Amino acid sequence: MKFFVDTADVTEIRDLAATGLLDGVTTNPSLIAKSGRKIQDVIAEICAIVEGPVSAEVAATEYQAMLREAAVLSAIAPNVVIKLPLTPDGLRACHILSKQGTLTNVTLCFSAAQALLAAKAGASFISPFVGRLDDIGQDGMELIADIVQIYGNYPHLRTEILVASIRHPIHLIQAAKLGAHVATIPPNVIKQLYHHPLTDKGLAHFLADWAKTGQSIG
Ligand code: G3P
Repeated sequence: MKFFVDTADVTEIRDLAATGLLDGVTTNPSLIAKSGRKIQDVIAEICAIVEGPVSAEVAATEYQAMLREAAVLSAIAPNVVIKLPLTPDGLRACHILSKQGTLTNVTLCFSAAQALLAAKAGASFISPFVGRLDDIGQDGMELIADIVQIYGNYPHLRTEILVASIRHPIHLIQAAKLGAHVATIPPNVIKQLYHHPLTDKGLAHFLADWAKTGQSIG
């Protein structure tokens, strides 16, 4: 499973890239706004840190304007992925960009029908938002299971399932058990993945016993 980080915070991205666990980055207009920086500058800096796919989202809502923005964003670096909303215009732009060989990420997916449309439009990635579905009392992970099943029925569909709006480690584990290709994870959730109280307790015990031996290695 590929791990992307869902942030536009370059300091966080640099730290995570150093772990060797980071396969890509996703951003969205809210994350760019939070960074307080110009989108071209942030995306360029992220692409210089991470070799893998870096999603940058268009802000236009009409397909021709989306294509113009996509050209600007694609020119930043070869690993930029054009993120498009799951609307008729977004999918029209997705179809054109996919035909041109541009990587695309169709976002704001909340149903299996939408995911099927995105795959037919040639999306490189589909981003179903599990947390936001949970927030309104629906089961976000059920959507992932549906998309995994549907895409699995049609092996010619090459769209990768990129689980988004992840709120906690259980979302990630459930997505991995279902075989989703990618998870985009907020930095705080990535940090949570390392921790288990028995690891901390066990290490403290080992270190205490080791101190008693008076030895040093090397
Ligand atoms: O980047 C898209 C998605 O991951 C947003 O997550 O937490 O704002 O629902 P969230």
